[in-house]
Amino acid sequence: MAIPEKLLEGIDKLEPMPVTAQRLTAALRDPNISAAEIAKLVEHDQGVAATVIRTSNSALFAGRQPIESVHAAVVRLGTANLLSVVLDRHLKRMAVDAPLYDLRENDLWLHGAVACHAATEILKVRPKAGIPRSSPVAALLHDVGKLVMSRFMKADSRQLVTFARQEKVSFVEAERQVLGCDHAEVGAALARHWKFPEEITDAIAWHHSPSPSGPSPVVDAAVLANLVAKTVGTGLGAEGMNLDIDPGIRKRLGMEHVDFCRLVANTSIRLAELRQEHGLKV
Ligand SMILES: [Fe+2]
Ligand SMILES: [Fe+2]
Repeated sequence: MAIPEKLLEGIDKLEPMPVTAQRLTAALRDPNISAAEIAKLVEHDQGVAATVIRTSNSALFAGRQPIESVHAAVVRLGTANLLSVVLDRHLKRMAVDAPLYDLRENDLWLHGAVACHAATEILKVRPKAGIPRSSPVAALLHDVGKLVMSRFMKADSRQLVTFARQEKVSFVEAERQVLGCDHAEVGAALARHWKFPEEITDAIAWHHSPSPSGPSPVVDAAVLANLVAKTVGTGLGAEGMNLDIDPGIRKRLGMEHVDFCRLVANTSIRLAELRQEHGLKV
């Protein structure tokens, strides 16, 4: 299904990614880049540098020694987590009401931010599951297509909900049939426009339907992170859970039921912290 022209134009018109994010995206593709070179990319951006140091000392990443320099933070976090930090700030700034999905300003950002946290936790507890380091970036961005759709498509969530009910189809299918495309393919188009590695684009593209090339750890991690983010009550809006989860995902990632419950508990703690940090009401 082709993405409508006005959405493709919208992707072109969207504010560009911050320069630091563009440089980190390029660094993600370069296996030979050193921590010192990456630190240089981050150091020139004062706001980012402070956030990066704070994140490296957060409960999720903290080690025995407190981190005080950008270089040490780069070593502890790695390029993909740095990119998540920078993109998270960008998405927060881009936050808009999304009436098409019945989500208020910040709902979409918060949903991506907690999905990113969940993916980081999955990576941490399953280091041998072959999950790429870029999975938290993919989880952060998995619904970014909704941002584009909400900005450039004048439609109402009630139209989609009514269609889904009457035709007995999923919300994503209603998007495809009523609007001509769904937020997953639009998000993937934006990720391609932003020149993200293919694994990130794939995870965004296939977070609601099985990938034609079969399961992959990055898609599995993004789907599970989305489930966790919904389970803690973010990003529900008009579509609700809207998930048809492949029962093989948890098995492939080696996540027992108890691991999943722990993941949900930790993510709900992070959600409460984020709400407090940003003064957001429940
Ligand atoms: Fe989605
Ligand atoms: Fe989602």
